[in-house]
Amino acid sequence: MNATLEVTPARDLPTMRSPQAARHRTGTLHAENPPSPLTCYDRMSRKIVTRRSPIHGNGVFAARKLAPGVELIEYQGRLMTHAQADRLYEGGVDTGHTFLFTLNERYIIDANVDGNEARWLNHSCAPNCQAVWEESADGNPKKDRILIETLREIAPGEELTYDYGISLPVRQTARMKALWACRCGAPECSGTMLKPKR
Ligand SMILES: C[S@@+](CC[C@H](N)C(=O)[O-])C[C@H]1O[C@@H](n2cnc3c(N)ncnc32)[C@H](O)[C@@H]1O
Ligand SMILES: [Zn+2]
Repeated sequence: MNATLEVTPARDLPTMRSPQAARHRTGTLHAENPPSPLTCYDRMSRKIVTRRSPIHGNGVFAARKLAPGVELIEYQGRLMTHAQADRLYEGGVDTGHTFLFTLNERYIIDANVDGNEARWLNHSCAPNCQAVWEESADGNPKKDRILIETLREIAPGEELTYDYGISLPVRQTARMKALWACRCGAPECSGTMLKPKR
């Protein structure tokens, strides 16, 4: 983690954003970014790899043994305000699928556009990673970042997961719970990706 920046511990962990406030456009998986000149080096030093997941769709897996507290990847995508996301996605059909991440009170990261591998990490009720909110040193909310880091030692080939912490601004009806059903497979799975209401 960049030592010149400061994480504000008083805040909650960041959360995936539900489509209740901004609806996710259905379906399209975008092609990964084109290879950069760093590809060879990157391949040699890779910590993560993306492939099909037993939990859902694509997932991200440890490419080698990982220590606790290792920063894996930044959650990237197009930055937009909550209001812009609401306008863009309103009227869509609830599918229980989202690539939207709440960055802070002002901005959303929309990984449908310019998203990187971080958008493929799945949720688990017994996660081995966490999403960490890193506040910009100059206080510019556009420069805040979401970083995914390991919570414990992880064996090569283990799927990497974090707690999405999705909280809906509406009542958690049976229909909403079914849409956001969790298939993480952990013995302690709560059955839902939704956070209980506080
Ligand atoms: C950021 S995407 C993760 C990548 C996803 N696997 C894919 O291939 O698009 C988040 C979506 O993945 C699915 N997902 C992630 N974790 C899940 C879980 N534990 N159980 C069921 N679906 C999950 C849900 O549709 C969720 O909205
Ligand atoms: Zn679960």
